[in-house]
Amino acid sequence: MDKNCIKDNMDWINGVWEKTEQKLRQVAKRSRNKIPYSSVDGVHTEKENIEWWTNGFWGGLMWLLYSETENEEYKKTALRSEELLDKAFDNFCLLDHDVGFLWHILSGAHYKLFNDEKAFNRNLIAAASLASRYNVDGGYISAWNGKGKEGWSIIDCLMNLSLLYWASEVTGNDRFSRIAIHHADMAARDHVRKDGSINHIVEHDVNTGEVVRVYGGQGFSETSCWTRGQAWAIYGFIISYYHTKKQEYLDMAIRSANYFIANCRMYDYKTPVDFRQPQEPCYYDSTAGVCAACGMLEISKYVTEAESKMYTAEAINILKATDKYFCDYNEVTDSLVLYGTEKYPHNDSAGLHIPIIYGDFFFVEALLKLKGNKFFVW
Ligand code: GLY
Repeated sequence: MDKNCIKDNMDWINGVWEKTEQKLRQVAKRSRNKIPYSSVDGVHTEKENIEWWTNGFWGGLMWLLYSETENEEYKKTALRSEELLDKAFDNFCLLDHDVGFLWHILSGAHYKLFNDEKAFNRNLIAAASLASRYNVDGGYISAWNGKGKEGWSIIDCLMNLSLLYWASEVTGNDRFSRIAIHHADMAARDHVRKDGSINHIVEHDVNTGEVVRVYGGQGFSETSCWTRGQAWAIYGFIISYYHTKKQEYLDMAIRSANYFIANCRMYDYKTPVDFRQPQEPCYYDSTAGVCAACGMLEISKYVTEAESKMYTAEAINILKATDKYFCDYNEVTDSLVLYGTEKYPHNDSAGLHIPIIYGDFFFVEALLKLKGNKFFVW
């Protein structure tokens, strides 16, 4: 990260951090017995199904806050969240590739901070479950369950690979990381387009891995560019680079980030749901911006000085827009980052412009990176 750029913005960083932490300190206690997903009228709401892919973010957010403050209240809530999530192990058939989002940022973080044995076991079981989704002939991790989806890989899965790199590290057995590398190689080949934009869903021939077709998934269309998918690519490839030091992953992270930056500037850094969506009405997804910013801050550690300054500055531009337009620092409401969007709203507005827990997670993670916190959970 560019030191001068951070120094020039230190007052803003500290000011936003203070408001954020003051609010979340209250929320951590209020929502201790919940696994929040969104909020309605300022009150955290939960998903009914415990296996829901975002259910690791709340506890993960608590560990991030604990890593900076060592405040026991955050620890208590993180531990409670981990305990509540154990129920998700009861339904193995309902788990999918998102076990990284579920456990790695929660139990993985817990283990990193305290060497906790139970957290270790939870995370290793999750890793084994992710590894079991690998299609040996096709060279990809199958994303979802259900007939007809056996050949589907999705860009989001790059974020779950941390779990496999971690499993190899702690077991000394490279069978997990080899799966992660095969999958990341596939994503570089089949999900990243030549112009740096991203295919959300790719369907492969299950016997050869060849691309059968692509789908627009949560974006506007199959030729458009869903911004959260673009953010998963930026952060996901740089995570794979961090673990493997394979140059191609850095190149892919940079290519994805450059596409994101070039387009995001056109929206004054307020990230739309899709970079190729119709201009009107303009739908936003704040969560894509904050995740992309985290990825850019990581990229800035591995590039030349001039580029480092560019990625740091652009990440800060996104975070400043988030702070200005999308954040709610009121301590009596539960969510921090508003204006997240689940998918491009073609026919209905459910999940449009709502707070979503991973928005809060990545906003806090980005702030902590800027503050120099070295706790890296991915
Ligand atoms: N991983 C699913 C999503 O980003 O909505």
